[in-house]
Amino acid sequence: MKDLIQNDTSASTAADEPIGQAVVFTSAITALGGLLFGYDTGVVSGALLFLHTSFGNLSSFELELVTSVLLIGAAVGAFGAGRLADLIGRRPTILITAVVFTAGVLGAAFAPVFAFLIVMRFVIGLAVGSSSMVVPLYIGEVAPPRVRGALVSFNQLAITMGILVSYLVDYGLSSSENWRLMFGLAAIPAILLFVGMLTQAESPAWLVRAKREDDARRVLKRVRSKDHDVDGEIAEIRSVASSEGSYRDLLEPAIRRALIVGIALAVFQQITGINTVIYYAPTLLHDAGFGNSAALLANVGNGIVNVGMTIVAIWLIDRVGRRVLLLTGTSGMVVGLTTIALVFLIGGDHLSTPGAVIAILALAIYTGSFAIGLGPVFWLLISEFYPLRIRGKAMSVATIANWSANFVVTISFLTLLNAISNAGTFFLFAFLSLVALWYFNRNIPETKNLSLQEIEVQLAK
Ligand code: BGC
Repeated sequence: MKDLIQNDTSASTAADEPIGQAVVFTSAITALGGLLFGYDTGVVSGALLFLHTSFGNLSSFELELVTSVLLIGAAVGAFGAGRLADLIGRRPTILITAVVFTAGVLGAAFAPVFAFLIVMRFVIGLAVGSSSMVVPLYIGEVAPPRVRGALVSFNQLAITMGILVSYLVDYGLSSSENWRLMFGLAAIPAILLFVGMLTQAESPAWLVRAKREDDARRVLKRVRSKDHDVDGEIAEIRSVASSEGSYRDLLEPAIRRALIVGIALAVFQQITGINTVIYYAPTLLHDAGFGNSAALLANVGNGIVNVGMTIVAIWLIDRVGRRVLLLTGTSGMVVGLTTIALVFLIGGDHLSTPGAVIAILALAIYTGSFAIGLGPVFWLLISEFYPLRIRGKAMSVATIANWSANFVVTISFLTLLNAISNAGTFFLFAFLSLVALWYFNRNIPETKNLSLQEIEVQLAK
């Protein structure tokens, strides 16, 4: 509780500080981390259509594997990077992540055989998982408290932009069928992340924990405004660090409950099917009778809806609150998914023109509803739910749960389509979204305008 109060105090003293240049750079780093996350996960959707030009016909399982092996890498990366960041610092961990990113995407781009591509997608996954964990951690520690929340949502916007950019690249390269360049272009933001990070300082919080307070003081003077109480902030970090919890503390009753809610949000975010659409929509549309370019163009439209509605969500999230957005968004997902399922049920797996138009509109309703609710709200809530002393560990558990659930859905989706048909699969996602809605309605408190301490009380009820 002490740390919560101290955290709130720091928020109020920082409230009058101008947002300095340092924050602009920090935001740029967030943008690159999110962009890479989005690009590397989204790009495969288009690349899948052309892998056969180099490797011959691939089975559904092989396509699932090349898509989802990245996600196993991400779960491992999120776990390993959290530890590495504690051990050697946030800055070197992000630098290593950028190097792994670059090596992975170049390896994928030049893959001589399919098995090599699989290994490289795993390597890219390590970097995606690592950055999904360490970049927000770093931002949270370097940014002034006042802008932390905004930066968390900004991260989700960067993810959706990365996905959109990957769709545009996929569409632009579709006539040349150049899947290698689709993968390889991600080297550009990865190199930018490396160079950008070289100009950044280590997180002051980590420096204090590593007993390097003079360095921490120097960094804080650089990243805070002139009249900021640097020694006060250092004392605060020191006292929080001394009460730091262990993984075992996650099992204390009050925290355990919040942890279960965080894991449930993570799992629901994935088992309601978002990434089957993000990764496989072109494959699905192609099988439903679209040409490759038309399928990729429809995908671009979906990517624009995703970005657009994320912007709306960021605008609304502190006004109408997280709970309203979550419940409205999840209801919209049920509507979109049920419509898609009905289109396939009535029209069969090969769609006529009117069927295809309705399917695309329903896809947009579904993606837009995710983008206004479960997309940003999950990442925001897991950064708000936990007391500071345990936050890093709890967030890493939720992040790993998110990547693992993503893996399970992605590895089984094409097989599921074959086994229970398109209609059956989307009815299943619609049903799971309904369960999610019921669960959220019962268990998710409104956290808008609540102090962290009040959130804890709400969750313990
Ligand atoms: C999810 C990703 C998903 C993305 C789509 C994120 O919140 O964690 O799995 O691909 O949203 O925009």
